[in-house]
Formats: sequence, structure tokens, C-alpha cells
Amino acid sequence: MEYESDFLVIGSGVAGLLFALKVADHGTVIIITKRNIAESNTAYAQGGIASVFAKTDSFESHIADTHASGDGICNEQVVEMVVKDAPARIQELIDLGVKFNRNRDNAAGTAELHLDLCREGGHSHNRIVHADDLTGLAVEEALVDQVRRHKNITVFEDHIAIDLITRSTRLQRGMIVTTHEDYCYGAYVLNRHTTDIETFCGRTIMLATGGAGKVYTYTSNPDIATGDGIAMAYRTGATVANLEFVQFHPTCLFHPEAKNFLISEAVRGDGGILVNAAGERFMEHYSPLKELACRDVVARAIDAELKKRGDDFVFLDISHKDAEFIKTRFPNLYAKCLTFGIDMTTDPIPVVPAAHYMCGGVATDIYGRTNIQRLFAIGETACTGLHGANRLASNSLLEALVYAHNAANQAIEDSKNFKFEASPQLAPWDDLGAIDSDEVIMVTHSWNAVRRLMWNYVGIVRSDKRLARAKRRIDMIQDEINEYYWDFKITPDLIELRNIATVAELIIRCATHRKESRGLHYNIAYPEKNDKRWKKDTVLRRPFVS
Ligand code: FAD
Ligand code: SIN
Repeated sequence: MEYESDFLVIGSGVAGLLFALKVADHGTVIIITKRNIAESNTAYAQGGIASVFAKTDSFESHIADTHASGDGICNEQVVEMVVKDAPARIQELIDLGVKFNRNRDNAAGTAELHLDLCREGGHSHNRIVHADDLTGLAVEEALVDQVRRHKNITVFEDHIAIDLITRSTRLQRGMIVTTHEDYCYGAYVLNRHTTDIETFCGRTIMLATGGAGKVYTYTSNPDIATGDGIAMAYRTGATVANLEFVQFHPTCLFHPEAKNFLISEAVRGDGGILVNAAGERFMEHYSPLKELACRDVVARAIDAELKKRGDDFVFLDISHKDAEFIKTRFPNLYAKCLTFGIDMTTDPIPVVPAAHYMCGGVATDIYGRTNIQRLFAIGETACTGLHGANRLASNSLLEALVYAHNAANQAIEDSKNFKFEASPQLAPWDDLGAIDSDEVIMVTHSWNAVRRLMWNYVGIVRSDKRLARAKRRIDMIQDEINEYYWDFKITPDLIELRNIATVAELIIRCATHRKESRGLHYNIAYPEKNDKRWKKDTVLRRPFVS
């Protein structure tokens, strides 16, 4: 089966959906998404979206906080552009029907919108716009609703992109051979229901496939976050950057039955404190900002505390606050914790750090363009220069909004000037006699092996020795995956396994390359930051095969 549209969007989180809505009046749009439309990191975002609205706040302050968190390698032009565009993008969400909380009191002196602005780590003012503690869901639902109504947009759920198709794609199964200055035409996509591999092509291809938390054993991310876009783009010859900067969120719920449940940074923003198992508050030993230090600092402090004491978790305690306030401010967290027998109005919450956000990704310009013509990347899958070595809390949804806007304007402009060659004849996927697997155990085993080795050797604190060990192991696992990939029919698990292994390899290579500690990358062999040599991005590109 072959499908064609003007705009092909891969992914249906905030980035993909907003881009789709913005281009839909200018051409046909197909969105493919690997589960149901709403399943995305976006839908789980809790804290909110950072933007300057308070009269006491300023763009300069948000810019300075973003740079401080990014630890010296944010792109200045990008930071300024994103921060200054934020209020307009949030107003746009309000116009699309997102119901953000209004002011609790006027202490923050908010401007005319009277949005309730809360605080998160690394921010020097209250500037987090939120919808209770379920901000992402409110945004996702409003966008899905609009997308469903638009006559030019067709959504293919349960369709998982396998690889991008470029002009030079040779149709050898599993092997993408790329030349320089390539064009992207579309993607091979597995239909989960029929198990057929279908061809989708478009004049503009938008990669909005989100993050890669599943590369690690413990993560705040849902199952879709397997770094597919980064892996596909890299295989196609796109430049990727800064993959050593994996953000670990300090506070995920520690409970044997809780899978991936985040306890929002907003809890610390509203007065929550961290204590160890002995009941001692410890953040003051690590940063003068205590619990409101940037995430890299808090995650490392918890890691150090756990190692020092041999504990499995620390506690996040907000029980000193008024119970009614807690229930109203964090209705979702309160209800969810109760299901695990934890009443956060009276009990401290057991928490641990977990992989949360990928600061690196597919390198783009300020319009979301990659180095492959017609291929754009936005949202968590992209590396725009905004986050540098550590993303500031609640700057991610914001980045997705701003880049969906920029990329849409650019793609619409491009499509006007297109001298689009007649759609190339894209040959159907070639199975080369692959058979159904009778060795599914290899996929399950390798999934666990990749994630465990990344957690153990490429986690919050790294060393040259651990990175070298990780590289040896990932090379071995990748050899096995490649062998298997050629012989057996493709399944969603196999596609994702191949992608997490690719992203793991890229993280290890970037981390090994950077011989200093900066932001989220901490190597005990080089504990200091070295601006002279390393105040720059780590850039990788697959060697071309001609
Ligand atoms: P996503 O929302 O992850 O969407 C990716 C989409 O791509 C999904 O639809 C997925 O199914 C699809 N997809 C992936 N691979 C394929 C494939 N191969 N084929 C087809 N489809 C594919 N950020 C903030 O700014 N503020 C917050 O308060 C906040 N809280 C967070 C809380 C949690 C628990 C998590 C996990 C993240 C949080 N973040 C927050 C980060 C933020 O939610 C994400 O970075 C952002 O939502 C990413 O949006 P996206 O559109 O790029 O990707
Ligand atoms: C949170 O609510 O703690 C997540 C915020 C973010 O990832 O920006």
C-alpha cells in the first residue's frame, strides 16, 4: 500500500499535532503514530510550560535561567527567540481551548491573562503556566480534538515508522545507504494490525517522535519513548548532537507496583523538601538553592546520598503544607499516590531519579530543518540549541510549541516554491525471504540488556572505564540485533529494540567523546568543566557510503 500527502508527520505529541494543525490549511496532512493518537510523553507532562507573564518577571531573567541550566552551551539566538515567543504560543493554546489555571492570588502580579504561575527548579521567578498537575494531558486533548475535526488531516494510528526513505535509499532490507545532499521522500511504516509494511510519502517530512527514556531501565517516560526518530534520522545521514545530555528527573515514585510515575518538580516548587531515610534534609549540603537547584544538581545529590547510605530511595515531603492546598494543587498526584497507599498530605513520598528527557537529538536550525532536504525535526526528538547541557524545567513543551510554529511557516513557504519532481517510484519494502521468528527471546533479552547496561554504566555518574565497558557490550548486542534483523520478519518490538540500541550507542559515543563534566554529563575522571576545550556541541553523523 502506498500513501501520499503534502505533509507527512511522524508522531502525535504536542510537536506533531500542532505542526499538523498549522499546515493543514495549506495542503493534505497525514499523521502516523505508533499507538493511539494521544499516547505520547506530552500526555504525561505534569508541571507546565515556562513563560514570562508576571509583571515582576522579565525575558532577560528567563533567558538567564535557561543559560544557567544549560551550563554554557545553549545557543544564544535560539534561547532569546524561544523565550520571547513563549507568551504568544501559550495564548495560541488558550485560543485552541486549553484551560490553564487562573491566579490563586495576585502575589505574582501577573499580567492581564491572570494565569496561575508556579515555580520549578532553576527558575528565579514564578513562571510555570499549568493545568492542575496534568498540563500535558490538557494540551494533548485540546490538540487531538482540533486535529480530529480538520478535514485535511488523516491520522493513521498503530502505524510505526521503520525507516525514512531518501532519494538514495537502496531497497535492501534494513540497510539505508545515503549520499550527501540527500532528499527525504517518506517512510516505510509497519501497520500493526495487518503487519504489512506500507510506504508513506510527502513533500515535507516532519519527525516529531519524541524522546528516548526507554533506553534506560528506570524512566518517567511511557513505552512509546524509544528514540525512533533519532535512530531513523541518524541511519539516514542526518546530523545528531549532544546525546550525552540525558536528563534524569530527581523524583520518580519508588514503589514496586508503580511504573514510570513522576512526582512533579512543582511539588518542590511549592515547598516540598527532600529527606534521606534517617529523616535528614540533605540538599543544603549540595547547593545553596537546596531543593530548587537545577535538576542535574538535585539528581546527583540524591544519587550521592543513596550511594553513601546504601538506601534504595529518598523521601519527598510536602506534608507540612495545608492538606486542602495539597489536594487542590496536586489532584492527580494526590489521587495516584493514594492508590499506592501513600497519603501525601501526611506521608513523605519515596522517590528516586529516573531517565526523563533527552536534551540532544537530531540537529536542526531555527526552523526545525535538518541537513537532509525536506526532513524537519521538532520537539524532544530535535536538538535545537535551546537546552544546552541541561534543560530548564518546563522549557520542553515550550520548545515544541515554538518550533512547531517556526517549522510550519517554513514548510508552507517551501511548499509554495517547490519544484517538486514527480513523486519518485518508491519500491515496496523488500522482505528478502525473512521468516516469522521462533526466537522472540532474543528480542526480550536484548531489550533488557541494553536498558540495564545504560542504567549501570551510562547513568547519572559516569567514568571512562564504565563507558568503555558499555561500548563493548552495546557493540556485541548490536551485532546480534543486526543478524536477527536480516533473518526474521519485522515486529514493533524488533523495530524499537534496534532503535534503543542505536540511541544507546550514540549516547555512549557522545559521552565518551566529552572529556569534562558539564550539565547532565558527569564523568568522575574529569569532574571539572573545561570551557577552553569543550564549550561546544558534540556532533555526530553517520559516515556516508557512496
Ligand atoms: P511526544 O509527546 O513524546 O510524542 C511523540 C509521538 O511520536 C508519540 O505520538 C509517539 O507514539 C510517536 N512515535 C514515536 N516513534 C514513532 C514511530 N516510530 N512511528 C510512529 N510514531 C512514533 N516538559 C515540560 O515542558 N513541562 C512538563 O511539565 C513536563 N513534564 C513531563 C512529565 C513526564 C512524566 C514526562 C515523561 C515528560 C515531561 N516533560 C515536560 C517533557 C515533555 O512532556 C516532552 O518533552 C514533550 O511532550 C515532547 O513532545 P513531542 O511532541 O516532541 O513528543
Ligand atoms: C515536572 O513536572 O517535574 C516535569 C517538568 C519538566 O519536565 O519540565
